[in-house]
Amino acid sequence: MKNVKDMSKTFNNLDISGASQKMTKNDVKPLLIVKDLHTYFFTQEGIVKAVDGVSFTINHDEILGLVGETGCGKSVTALSLLKLIRSPGEIVSGEIFFDGIDIVEKTNEEMLKLRGNIMTMMFQDPMNSLNPVLKVGDQVSEVYLLHQMEFLKDELQKAKEKNSKLKENLKRMKKELKTCSPEGAETLKNQINAIKQQIKFRITINDIARREAAALLDRIGLPNAETIVNRYPHELSGGMRQRIMISMGLACNAKLLICDEPTTALDVTIQAQILDMIRELKRKLKNSVLFITHSLGVIYELCDRVAVMYSGNIVEYGTVQNIFKNPQHPYTQGLMTSIPRVTRESRAQELTIIPGMVPNLIFPPSGCRFHPRCDHAMVICKKIRPELHEMPNKVQVACHLFNKDKSGEEYRKLTEEEKQEDVL
Ligand SMILES: Nc1ncnc2c1ncn2[C@@H]1O[C@H](COP(=O)(O)OP(=O)(O)OP(=O)(O)O)[C@@H](O)[C@H]1O
Ligand code: SF4
Ligand SMILES: [Mg+2]
Repeated sequence: MKNVKDMSKTFNNLDISGASQKMTKNDVKPLLIVKDLHTYFFTQEGIVKAVDGVSFTINHDEILGLVGETGCGKSVTALSLLKLIRSPGEIVSGEIFFDGIDIVEKTNEEMLKLRGNIMTMMFQDPMNSLNPVLKVGDQVSEVYLLHQMEFLKDELQKAKEKNSKLKENLKRMKKELKTCSPEGAETLKNQINAIKQQIKFRITINDIARREAAALLDRIGLPNAETIVNRYPHELSGGMRQRIMISMGLACNAKLLICDEPTTALDVTIQAQILDMIRELKRKLKNSVLFITHSLGVIYELCDRVAVMYSGNIVEYGTVQNIFKNPQHPYTQGLMTSIPRVTRESRAQELTIIPGMVPNLIFPPSGCRFHPRCDHAMVICKKIRPELHEMPNKVQVACHLFNKDKSGEEYRKLTEEEKQEDVL
């Protein structure tokens, strides 16, 4: 693998001052606490240990990135937070506390009320998540109706008050019309007709929801939002559908927004626009975000902290600044050195890859699940699963390389044959 120190030089030259987060009073009480979460799928082939002892927190007004190879359990972790795991899957053990609410203990009925109001999720594939037979405007306004009724009622009240004022003006103008000059009468008649048009229809809560939906689509940069609200999902491009999905997530105004690879299917310019939008909206609304991605570049651009996931476990966890400066877990190091870099020096270098395959989650490797692929694997790595430990730079790392006393047979490096012995 490439020398990680060389790579950290590259990251040191970049301005990542915005990526670190100052401790605030809110950090003392995180918004979300996940403790030792185990989510398994009980399939005919065996038990898929998709999430196997995951712990992390998300602070108020923070973006936490969750990164890892395909199939490592990112989406299952996110779905567990919303209790959206369906049979044959189940949260086997662990705790999820959201703003003091014990999520694991909640019934399905209770979760129906909580989902969308406290946390909401943008899914990987917008086509599967949008209803193909409903106009997009109706789908976004339905979210407002479900989750922001109080806000809509306030807006309806304001609209009614505005209408009453317009009616009073209309009465006054009609009186004036009787006494004014013929020239003035023409202008007055036009004004009266304009007001009549405005108050012609009785405004309802659905109208307000639709108006807010169009305004939101406009805010997220969809051109001609007024027209787009009347289209069906199949009449929109992939990027537009993704924006609709994002707007539905935002319309909930939830405290935690879970974004599961919302930009993977998009081209880089749209991807950059959407990332800017999430960052900007988070800044304005001060909500928190769990951002799931394969891309370390996206994590680097967007997140405050990052949890690196491998085969159902979190193996490294800390601020983006510290982890990019000095990745310590061999898997994180492997991920970092496999990022293509466009520099004069890198043009001649080949990209490094992490050898081996993503483990089978029904029969995962013993001890540290990364041991069959790790250049540093030792005897102890096959026997004992390493726990997360805080390093001097405050990053948490799950790796036996950082154990204090590394003497004796337990710390002998494994041969290639020994590493592959129990791989299925
Ligand atoms: N309904 C299910 N039944 C059986 N196994 C499942 C089910 N859903 C997910 N899994 C398994 O759980 C593991 C984790 O899946 P998950 O979707 O969380 O991966 P991921 O990290 O989100 O991957 P990707 O980056 O490709 O989206 C995978 O091995 C997957 O096959
Ligand atoms: S615990 Fe062992 S196998 Fe796992 S990453 Fe660390 S050195 Fe490699
Ligand atoms: Mg996924």
